[in-house]
Amino acid sequence: MEEKTALIAGATGLIGNELLHILLESSEYKEVYALVRNPLKMKHPKLKEVMVDFERLNEFKQYFAVNDVFVCLGTTIKKAKTQEAMYKIDVDYPVEIGRIAQEAGARHYLVVSSMNADRKSKLFYPRMKGELEEKVRQLNFEQHSIFRPSLLLGNRGEFRLGEEIAAVLFKCLKFIFTGPLQKYRAIEGKTVAKAMYNVAQEKEQGKVVYTSEEIEKIAK
Ligand SMILES: NC(=O)c1ccc[n+]([C@@H]2O[C@H](COP(=O)([O-])OP(=O)(O)OC[C@H]3O[C@@H](n4cnc5c(N)ncnc54)[C@H](OP(=O)(O)O)[C@@H]3O)[C@@H](O)[C@H]2O)c1
Repeated sequence: MEEKTALIAGATGLIGNELLHILLESSEYKEVYALVRNPLKMKHPKLKEVMVDFERLNEFKQYFAVNDVFVCLGTTIKKAKTQEAMYKIDVDYPVEIGRIAQEAGARHYLVVSSMNADRKSKLFYPRMKGELEEKVRQLNFEQHSIFRPSLLLGNRGEFRLGEEIAAVLFKCLKFIFTGPLQKYRAIEGKTVAKAMYNVAQEKEQGKVVYTSEEIEKIAK
């Protein structure tokens, strides 16, 4: 017990912060490196907070020789302003983290993508996530896990109008998300975090993509 080490990127976000707490409380991990650009404002004996410049990740490679790498980075077009800037955060940083971690000997790479990720899509967001997944496959980790949640629910301390409206609609119309529509059910950020943790504890998983429905099941 307490033999493993983890690296997490996106630990200030909705999924990432839930996951960070799970990792720190877990008896499986002895050290958790959190790559952040803004302080976490918390302390824990196992937590090693590493303030990084995400444009120069290579300069921090001494922190990448871990067992499990969790990537929960992402942004919105509203915040990023341009598709190029968004792509950098949602694709380039996650892939660069994977590349450095693989070189450093990390065992398992786990990343949050999105439902409907499709690199052939005409729409920017699903195409971006599809390209993320393709680039993750090319990293060629022995084990990689790609999580495709549907709409995320949870308190993110930030107002996102579109997501708030979708979340309210989902809660009111929850009863229709059964049968073939079940896969569109919104999912709590903490459920995704729990599923990522659970998958990381399984041995010899290989390379797997998890749908939102599967994420719900694995988290239980
Ligand atoms: N929202 C949805 O309904 C939904 C649905 C499916 C999939 N997803 C995907 O799920 C993933 C996680 O979502 P989430 O809601 O948990 O994310 P989130 O709460 O928006 O958190 C995003 C994380 O990325 C970091 N980040 C953003 N811009 C950055 C930058 N320029 N440099 C370095 N770090 C940066 C943030 O750090 P700071 O605190 O420093 O900004 C934060 O830790 C994302 O990839 C998202 O696309 C979202």
